[in-house]
Amino acid sequence: MLPQEVIRRKRDGAELSREEVRTFIAGLTGGSVSEGQVAAFAMAVFFRGMSREEAVGLTLAMRDSGTILAWDLPGPVVDKHSSGGIGDNLSLFLAPMLAACGCYVPMISGRGLGHTGGTLDKLDSIPGYVTQPDLALFAKVTREAGCAIIGQTADLAPADKRLYGIRDVTATVESIPLITASILSKKLAAGLEHLVLDVKVGSGAFMAAFEEAEELAESLVAVANGAGLRTTALITDMDEPLAPCAGNALEVAHACEMLLNWRADARVLEITLALGAELLVSAGLEADRPQAHSRLQETLRSGRAAEHFERMVQGLGGPRNFLADHASYLPAAPIIRPVHAGEAGTISAIRTRDLGLAVIELGGGRRVATDRIDHRVGLSALLGKGASVSPATPLCLVHAADEASFARAAGLVKSAYAVGDHAGSSANILARITA
Ligand code: URA
Repeated sequence: MLPQEVIRRKRDGAELSREEVRTFIAGLTGGSVSEGQVAAFAMAVFFRGMSREEAVGLTLAMRDSGTILAWDLPGPVVDKHSSGGIGDNLSLFLAPMLAACGCYVPMISGRGLGHTGGTLDKLDSIPGYVTQPDLALFAKVTREAGCAIIGQTADLAPADKRLYGIRDVTATVESIPLITASILSKKLAAGLEHLVLDVKVGSGAFMAAFEEAEELAESLVAVANGAGLRTTALITDMDEPLAPCAGNALEVAHACEMLLNWRADARVLEITLALGAELLVSAGLEADRPQAHSRLQETLRSGRAAEHFERMVQGLGGPRNFLADHASYLPAAPIIRPVHAGEAGTISAIRTRDLGLAVIELGGGRRVATDRIDHRVGLSALLGKGASVSPATPLCLVHAADEASFARAAGLVKSAYAVGDHAGSSANILARITA
């Protein structure tokens, strides 16, 4: 079967068979399909779409392009995946919370993409923490700590690495079946049994409109379940930052404070508990979501989630006493200064994407893939929608490496916040999607 014939059939709107997709992906992985052919295939899928059956076939073919992890553990193997946002550091405490409930969480996370932060970049601010261990260490830490958060390895779903690289430079990233297969092939290769998806919608998400987020969530849930991975999704609000901070070391510090019970931000907790509860119920560890909420909350109260986090950090090379002493280990920026509201009223809207762009201006994200990240910088004490302000109220604290980047970020923060008479009420969890 010639690759150009597969491309031609997709170009003309035909439904590809599993065999056609599998042969094409095998050629893509092995190198016999050229870069031009991969690009043409991606563009044909972009315009013609794929049926659910085709998307399942694509996902499975991409999963099978490399190693597939097999776990033999005394509890369910679970994971959470977020479509990305600002201040989205939930993985850092949800993974150990789930571990404290008896789950195993081999979490493969990504670097920052566009204006959003990436869990891996956050973990890189912990001295010594190895985000690219070999699979043997990954398995050991998962088994012993109950959770291990690491980066994508070359062995898992290599077809996605090549396809994503070509999509990135051929304007074919924003295709629902291609995004679906890309995300799920990696999850399936990680040997998961249960998955929950946090699909973000709003000004700080990749999907600004609810209908788009819903389409992606429905595709992910249908294809994941079609491929044998029990999956549900929540569509959650990203019209304001999730945690009240954005930036790598700052988000790790916030996660440590959550685990140490020094803080319990209501919005963060609501979404964390809801996502965790989906997994505990799916895995049969709790009968219903309210009971699962209580069990998850107890892991924070009792310090058991904190213990699992410490074991994970230590197992992956971080300091022994990192959690308790995180403030002395995490790098700090030389300039920490507020941006004031400048007027009185209520925070009525936040252009959340601009807060992500402010972090990039500070050096905390990448403009091009090869950029080095400054883990010290970012925004903390970010106000949320509905907060009352006077002209002297800080909207946030900007953590900057120098005066020039402080000024650029401060300008972006100031213009991101709209001060008005009132903020419309919006829910944190907008929908639940099941198979
Ligand atoms: N994240 C992925 O892993 N793949 C995509 O295609 C988009 C987001």
